[in-house]
Amino acid sequence: MTDQHLQIRDLRVAPAADPTSEILQGIDLTVGKGEVHAIMGPNGSGKTTLAYALMGHPAYVVTGGEVLWKDVNVLELSPDKRARMGMFLAFQYPTAIPGLSVASFIRTALNARRAGVDRNPEIDPTDPMRGGISMMEFRKLMRAKMALLRMDESFATRYVNEGFSGGEKKRLEMLQMAVLEPEMAILDETDSGLDIDALRIVAEGVNAMLNPNMGVLLITHYQRLLNYIVPDQVHVLARGRIIKSGGRDLALDLEEQGYAPVLKEAGYDADETDAAYTARAPETVPAG
Ligand SMILES: Nc1ncnc2c1ncn2[C@@H]1O[C@H](COP(=O)(O)OP(=O)(O)O)[C@@H](O)[C@H]1O
Ligand SMILES: [Mg+2]
Repeated sequence: MTDQHLQIRDLRVAPAADPTSEILQGIDLTVGKGEVHAIMGPNGSGKTTLAYALMGHPAYVVTGGEVLWKDVNVLELSPDKRARMGMFLAFQYPTAIPGLSVASFIRTALNARRAGVDRNPEIDPTDPMRGGISMMEFRKLMRAKMALLRMDESFATRYVNEGFSGGEKKRLEMLQMAVLEPEMAILDETDSGLDIDALRIVAEGVNAMLNPNMGVLLITHYQRLLNYIVPDQVHVLARGRIIKSGGRDLALDLEEQGYAPVLKEAGYDADETDAAYTARAPETVPAG
């Protein structure tokens, strides 16, 4: 039995290109099994840096602290090993891969995950007789997950993100998450506060998948997403530090008052008129 908590201790992160200027200046955070934690913060506070550092993005270097997942220091592991251990990052801006179908892409990812962290040589993911998933079993699984997310089955044969609308890209991220069944899901939703459709897709996807075995780190600038996904805890990230943590009410206070009061409380100046400090999403007209 391993402890299934994500434990972030005094995490310090800098850009790989400039390792002396730390973006994250000591983050402490624990996400327990089955818990949903929201990270909110003004633009440029380090939210995306945190998501990328947790998954091992090569553009960032960890200059201090540790990240334990299932009692393993994952900072020493490559991003693919972190994924094999059940960590998952939903990208804000997913990349298109022309020529590769959604089905092949997800099947490859699923087989890689099934092979395990140490790529157990007894398991050959491409061989259904040796622990891999058969085509039939895989199709069944995809059909079930697409039904869960109310997606058309034709989606599976399209090329990854090629010509996808914003909403379709979000759906594909959610489908990957549904098939891979991560135990720690990190979602970076920084800018999508502007797109109500994308927001609903993510919220429906996450809510359909929430289970006592999955921890969620939900990163968002605007509190609106939290009207759809109810967090257990809310943390405010500003200038590379968590300056306040609280319950769901904290997000509602931020929506009312913006980030300025919390920043002031922490001893920072904040320009209350600056749009970067509001947590209320601009009015949008739902598309379609
Ligand atoms: N790869 C990078 N190289 C240099 N500076 C970066 C890099 N990534 C982020 N930054 C800087 O770090 C700060 C935090 O960025 P980011 O994590 O994207 O914030 P957020 O997601 O909260 O808006 C910003 O000032 C940004 O310009
Ligand atoms: Mg961001």
